[in-house]
Amino acid sequence: MSKLFSGKGFSGNIKITQNEFLKLRDIIYDLSGIYLQDNRRFLVENRFAPRLSELEFKNYSDYIDYLQKHPKGKTEELGMLTELITTNETSFFRDNPQLKIFRNYTLKKLIDEGNNSGRKEIKIWSAGCSSGEEPYTLAIILHEALKDDIQKWRIKITANDISTNVLKMAEKGVYTKYALRTTPDYIIPKYFTEKDNDIYQINPEVKRLISFGKINLNQDFSVKKVAPSHIIFCRNVIIYFDKQMKQKVLGAFHNNLLDNGHLYVGHSESLHAITDKFKPRQHAGTITYHKI
Ligand SMILES: C[S@@+](CC[C@H](N)C(=O)[O-])C[C@H]1O[C@@H](n2cnc3c(N)ncnc32)[C@H](O)[C@@H]1O
Repeated sequence: MSKLFSGKGFSGNIKITQNEFLKLRDIIYDLSGIYLQDNRRFLVENRFAPRLSELEFKNYSDYIDYLQKHPKGKTEELGMLTELITTNETSFFRDNPQLKIFRNYTLKKLIDEGNNSGRKEIKIWSAGCSSGEEPYTLAIILHEALKDDIQKWRIKITANDISTNVLKMAEKGVYTKYALRTTPDYIIPKYFTEKDNDIYQINPEVKRLISFGKINLNQDFSVKKVAPSHIIFCRNVIIYFDKQMKQKVLGAFHNNLLDNGHLYVGHSESLHAITDKFKPRQHAGTITYHKI
């Protein structure tokens, strides 16, 4: 994170008081729905100190005042805040056992139904897509499943994130070998072009299936704009939300999903005691959630 800033002014870590932490936590929560647990003070200090130095603030109270009162603080700085507070960890083919269930169960069902009815359409929403590895993985799996038949299908993957920085990377579609660390070997030459040593560009036939765009899951009006989906992937995102925000987002997913739609959440995430709008189904290594 610190490489984003020149770090002029203060070089050391600026300490945040408990009162300042609570105020900043509220601002972050109102903005994004991301809830910082009490033990995240250290993380805030680590991530925000270079920004405070750059703006030449001596303490967090001045920064909070800026966010609440200054015309630039109330607008542009909220974008900065978003970049600092989001965790964008991801990779291609993240959680392979879950993706196998997606391929062999959910996708197979949709493809069979489409072939039988003649309505060959698949709409997927990757909510919290980070730098694009997740939606590109889903697009590759669709190519692998449909092969040349893919031309006969109307496919749309809507991929959103709150962070402008990661969306820029996603649009570019250029990755280091590290992003491909959990990708099956045969996939890489088939769907990527090696540009340079260990730099890979996603191929256009994968890219054309995806529309990237900025969406804040905490803003009802922007979430409602997403076209109805057969499948939603929202993995490793709700883990950062509190119960109230989780319920709000899961309610929005329920509204967005078409009948019998499936929801995939992250390996360590569960809908238990959060909502009864989805029926869980246990598979080997993962749970799929079905719209009731
Ligand atoms: C840890 S990444 C997960 C990426 C991918 N889904 C995966 O599992 O590999 C979480 C992403 O959620 C995004 N995010 C957090 N809060 C959000 C919000 N309110 N609206 C939209 N995206 C959000 C972050 O910017 C981040 O890119």
